[in-house]
Amino acid sequence: MTLEARRSGYDEETYARLATDTAAIIARYPEKRSALLPMLHLVQSQDGYVSRDGIAFCAEQLGITAAEVSAVATFYTQYKRHPNGTYTVGVCTNTLCAIMGGDEIFDELSEHLGVGHDETTDDGAITLERVECNAACDYAPVVMVNWEFFDNQTPAGATQLADRLRAGEDVAPTRGAASVCTFKQMSRVLAGFSDGRADEGVGAGGPTLAGLRLAREHGWTAPGGTAPEQVDGAATDAGAAATAGASAVGQEQSSAERTPTTPADATGATPDASKGKQP
Ligand code: FES
Repeated sequence: MTLEARRSGYDEETYARLATDTAAIIARYPEKRSALLPMLHLVQSQDGYVSRDGIAFCAEQLGITAAEVSAVATFYTQYKRHPNGTYTVGVCTNTLCAIMGGDEIFDELSEHLGVGHDETTDDGAITLERVECNAACDYAPVVMVNWEFFDNQTPAGATQLADRLRAGEDVAPTRGAASVCTFKQMSRVLAGFSDGRADEGVGAGGPTLAGLRLAREHGWTAPGGTAPEQVDGAATDAGAAATAGASAVGQEQSSAERTPTTPADATGATPDASKGKQP
């Protein structure tokens, strides 16, 4: 075993793999200390949280102190100070979601699972969190599982969702990826290593595009702005865009130009909002 591996606390193979991934992350930045945020996700993909060994590893790789690494790791709530569950179930209790039932969902889940905020069930399956606005207010109240959206939730639907996760069932988010991955898998994606699933599922749905639809129907434009129909020139022709395998600006899927991968992608159908209520 190399001296570096022995000092790190990781076994030789794990250390070598983390070091290879770290080199790829550092190469993205002009200053290597800028790699710290994705490296902390990388550590979580290995340990399931920002462990003591992970902090020492980041410090050694970046040439900074463990105190500097800890100062960053303790600032952001996405970095966990203790072993996380396989799934982070985050209930949005920010203003709109709270009014729409987020507080009731959190309370129901907390009682059902027997854990409070930032606590993990005894089986290690679920870490429950209150989370702030997830920029999905048009689908309030929203629950996230490892940062995948479960829209228009209810207390009963959320407890069913938790039960299915604990039972090891495949669970599909309302939008986005076709299934929920584990916390460690998600952490590796956040470290910048693609899992090849970014194009799965529906992106922008009907509620998100409601304002644009109304603007088109009424011919509204912003002062000094461009009419929705004129945005992005020829690409606004939905038929032409569909033929080209991309979505026109302002159409569903327009958040990414991508090849359709699901029936909803191909038809542009609005996701079924009730799906989130029946996980
Ligand atoms: S308030 Fe819950 S997603 Fe915005």
